[in-house]
Amino acid sequence: MKRISEDKAADLARDIRTLLKVHAEAMGRIEEMLDKPSVPIAEAVAELAAMSRGFAANCHDVKFRYDWSIPPAPEWFDHFIDSYLLLRRDRNTFWMERGVYGVLALSRGGRVLELCCGDGYYTRNFYAPFAGSIVALDFDPDAIAHARRYNAAPNVEFRNADIRKDIPKETFDNVVWDAAIEHFTPDEMDGILKTVSSCLDGKGCLSGYTIVAMDSGKHLDQHEHEFTSMGELVDCLFTHFRNVKVFETVHPARHNLYFYASDTVLPFDGHWPHVVEKRR
Ligand SMILES: C[S@@+](CC[C@H](N)C(=O)[O-])C[C@H]1O[C@@H](n2cnc3c(N)ncnc32)[C@H](O)[C@@H]1O
Repeated sequence: MKRISEDKAADLARDIRTLLKVHAEAMGRIEEMLDKPSVPIAEAVAELAAMSRGFAANCHDVKFRYDWSIPPAPEWFDHFIDSYLLLRRDRNTFWMERGVYGVLALSRGGRVLELCCGDGYYTRNFYAPFAGSIVALDFDPDAIAHARRYNAAPNVEFRNADIRKDIPKETFDNVVWDAAIEHFTPDEMDGILKTVSSCLDGKGCLSGYTIVAMDSGKHLDQHEHEFTSMGELVDCLFTHFRNVKVFETVHPARHNLYFYASDTVLPFDGHWPHVVEKRR
């Protein structure tokens, strides 16, 4: 539950009123364009779309400030803020990578288990279109409520569960673990990876994303162990899987690690069915 002072709530209410007023004026200007035969309809269409992008960005700026400047800060991110505000304002694109790289590991139409799904943005938009079904777990009831309300899909079941003890004892074709392995101690990671390996039953693939530790301190208070290098993450996963691949991307704002782990083929292996290579 957010602890918001009356002053802060009044500030936000004032900002929202200003935003609504500014955009009502912008909508009025577009309506005036429609009344002028000299203005081509293409111009009104382009201005309408541009106005809606600005409106969405400004609304998500309010949401960003509400989520992150009023305590307690959440353990998960509302990725609508990435798509409507930070992509446009900061040209941040790293947040899309986990979804894109994660999809490469999914068996088409398979049974997917997602650990620590947070807001469910990746579940719905990246993974659900490729999966037969997804069971998506998170222990934060607020995250699950948000996911069910804003990122529902017919083939997704969002469940409240603590993955240290409540991973279903079932078989899955894929397990996804994005932006969350760092929220666990090395001992907890070990226990969870053991369970994941038995869920995949020697056949499926685990994929995921984590962030590289900074010299200046933890990225988030709730992080228990941030990996310092690709090698450290490979070693952690290799204890439980025969084949492991870790790669990095270095963005201006963030150093990212992506991983695939399986007892069988991994994306971009020579015998992966979705790649053809020739070399001299
Ligand atoms: C940074 S968020 C990542 C969410 C999402 N996977 C993404 O990529 O945006 C980390 C998530 O891990 C969840 N989490 C942390 N510890 C957990 C646990 N023991 N069991 C289940 N979920 C947990 C948090 O509630 C949070 O939603």
